[in-house]
Amino acid sequence: MEKVIITGGTGYIGSHTVVEFLNAGFETIIIDNLVNSKIEVLSGIEKICKRKPVFYQEDITDISAIQKIFEEHKDAVAVIHFAAYKSVGESVENPLKYYHNNIQGLVNLLRKMQNTGVKNLVFSSSCTVYGQPEKLPVTEKSPVIKPESPYGNTKKINEEIIEDTIKTNSEINCISLRYFNPIGAHPSAEIGEFPLGVPDNLLPYITQTAIGLREKLSVFGNDYNTPDGTAIRDYINVVDLAKAHVIAVNRLLEKKNKDRLEVFNIGTGEGVSVMEVIRSFEKVSNQKLNYKITGRRPGDIEKVWADTTKANKILGWKAEKTLDETILSAWEWEKKIRNKS
Ligand code: NAD
Ligand code: UFG
Repeated sequence: MEKVIITGGTGYIGSHTVVEFLNAGFETIIIDNLVNSKIEVLSGIEKICKRKPVFYQEDITDISAIQKIFEEHKDAVAVIHFAAYKSVGESVENPLKYYHNNIQGLVNLLRKMQNTGVKNLVFSSSCTVYGQPEKLPVTEKSPVIKPESPYGNTKKINEEIIEDTIKTNSEINCISLRYFNPIGAHPSAEIGEFPLGVPDNLLPYITQTAIGLREKLSVFGNDYNTPDGTAIRDYINVVDLAKAHVIAVNRLLEKKNKDRLEVFNIGTGEGVSVMEVIRSFEKVSNQKLNYKITGRRPGDIEKVWADTTKANKILGWKAEKTLDETILSAWEWEKKIRNKS
């Protein structure tokens, strides 16, 4: 059984990806310090897959901890690297926390990959590296700019670190997946998104409002240059997104990659406004959502959605789930964790 190391594997996207790797017959080795996830996620994964991932509660910024895990699993065929901090707002308040965790973590992993036989990397990047693109949809060739937030900048710098490292080490290969906006939960409702504290992101805020944890959703601005005035994003189902990682690892294992660092947009290719998300939620949950229009959120861009042609043609990957299905999965998960289903 081929083995993959998954950093951040108890997190939101990581846990869904562990499930897809287990389903595809891989053995999964999770490294997560649980700074933004819960140990119970492992039981959810086991319920879905009837198999357990190997789990290490370790911090990837601690090189000696990583060293031991790589020694023990030097036969792993790839690293899938999710472990990072991800709050845009917090990164503006505390940039060094973000630069330390998100950059030191990657540097440590690359050091260990250089010294061991683990030579394939799949990296979690973000569409934030494009900022507000001039042309939409955004392709992988669109200019990468310095993102507004330190968090976004760590993604840009991480891609540069990987590129520079690959130039000096002829064996490491990487696929960087630039995610658009991941939403939804596993259809089993055994795993999903579990934001600690008040959610920053739209969909968890909506489901927490509907379940009664928050009073009202604020819609940040309805004066954008979009058909209904609210901002547009490309919302990608988390299970569809997770599947892209298995395809990426297989591509590297089969040596089908054309460059040693390949970049792919992972989105649906459809732009959806905040009001369209609210309408979809109201339809699938059969209830009205309490919301009000407020001012724009500082730092938000107006609109972005992906050109997914490259991922569709070269990876043979395509988003499959509809927006309604995905939003329903998030709602089922919210009800389940609050014991209201
Ligand atoms: P998440 O916070 O749910 O998962 C990240 C996991 O990494 C958590 O379980 C956390 O405990 C762990 N972690 C953080 N720092 C660590 C460290 N130093 N050592 C060990 N474990 C550590 O986040 P997510 O939404 O699943 O995001 C996963 C990756 O995808 C991140 O790199 C994120 O930047 C990237 N990404 C996320 C989004 C999004 O909207 N969710 C969009 C684009 C890119
Ligand atoms: N929004 C609201 N009200 C809320 C939360 C969000 O109206 O309470 C709006 C935002 O203004 C935005 C849209 O919903 O127009 C989506 O917002 P999210 O916070 O869910 O997502 P973002 O696009 O702002 O950010 C996400 C990730 C970041 C990543 C970025 C890349 O959270 O980590 O995508 O574009 F950097």
